[in-house]
Amino acid sequence: MNETTPAPGRTPTPIVVTGGTGTLGRLVVKRLLAAGVPVRVLSRSIPDAAARRPGVEYVAADLEQGDGIGAAVAGVDTVVHLAGSGTGDELKARNLVHAASAAQVKHLVYISVVGADRIPVVTKTDRNMFGYFEQKRAAELVVAESGIPHTTLRATQFDELVWLVAGVMAKLPVIPLPRGLRAQPVAAADVADHLVPLALGAPAGLVPDVAGPRVYDAAELLRGYLRAVGKRRPIVRIGLPGRAAKAMLGGANLSPERAVGTRTWEEVVAEQVGQRAVEDGDAELPGIGRRGGGRSRTTGRPVKAGR
Ligand SMILES: NC(=O)c1ccc[n+]([C@@H]2O[C@H](COP(=O)([O-])OP(=O)(O)OC[C@H]3O[C@@H](n4cnc5c(N)ncnc54)[C@H](OP(=O)(O)O)[C@@H]3O)[C@@H](O)[C@H]2O)c1
Repeated sequence: MNETTPAPGRTPTPIVVTGGTGTLGRLVVKRLLAAGVPVRVLSRSIPDAAARRPGVEYVAADLEQGDGIGAAVAGVDTVVHLAGSGTGDELKARNLVHAASAAQVKHLVYISVVGADRIPVVTKTDRNMFGYFEQKRAAELVVAESGIPHTTLRATQFDELVWLVAGVMAKLPVIPLPRGLRAQPVAAADVADHLVPLALGAPAGLVPDVAGPRVYDAAELLRGYLRAVGKRRPIVRIGLPGRAAKAMLGGANLSPERAVGTRTWEEVVAEQVGQRAVEDGDAELPGIGRRGGGRSRTTGRPVKAGR
């Protein structure tokens, strides 16, 4: 199914944004439109008419099942691949690359995660906890070896995801938190600000990471969340087994030398406290799920930790 809202005066070749309905995708689409570029969004579900943006063509395709991808990438030069989920990102990339090669796409832009190449996922235990990083690394390699000129940007965890995960954890009476776990959350808007010029530029291969302005202990992030939503919970620090956990706890998910993000966690929390004061405790951040909801706003599916 294709749903189109044509925009007068736009150039005829759109940029395809896979996952353009997601947290990051919506922000990237907005910026591309502001730059005067027509956009074609690829996702499994198409937004309701009221949520569609003028100038955007919406195409339903499933990157894991392989349905509809050829039509979605036909006739375009650039594909920005943002569609992702807790599992299956290697297969998504493979199916996309197959269709993009056939369509002679000239630039494939991929969003990956900081740590994809530094977290060894060998055992089942590693995979259960950190299989997401293994999938992102495999997808990076699919893109790099595709023969399509490409650009890959790795980002740290988004504020929006950290907020969701904190909401899920805060449902527990006592919150177990890995000892030594740190994170460097970045606003999805900051990631979009870095990604869009890359999409409009020439293929650049693996580019420097985009990471949040500060590294935090996970307990600091959680306490900020709890403060914002007015909850009290004891936090119990636990150990994590395995090599992947060791790498993660050693900071493989961090990129302190690339602390280019602008929004601190303190600002995220302060915004939430402010909204809570005026909205009777029903606050949301743009692109952040309802407090404690723990579900993707686009898919309604539960959000997994580690993304
Ligand atoms: N969130 C983070 O902290 C973080 C950090 C670093 C990198 N990343 C990467 O950034 C990207 C965007 O993350 P996000 O948090 O913005 O994701 P999100 O909000 O969960 O959105 C995911 C998007 O992918 C689409 N999608 C999922 N499965 C699909 C499939 N099989 N076929 C086609 N479309 C599919 C979804 O639409 P439908 O459900 O309608 O298909 C949606 O548009 C992902 O690749 C993620 O790995 C995220």
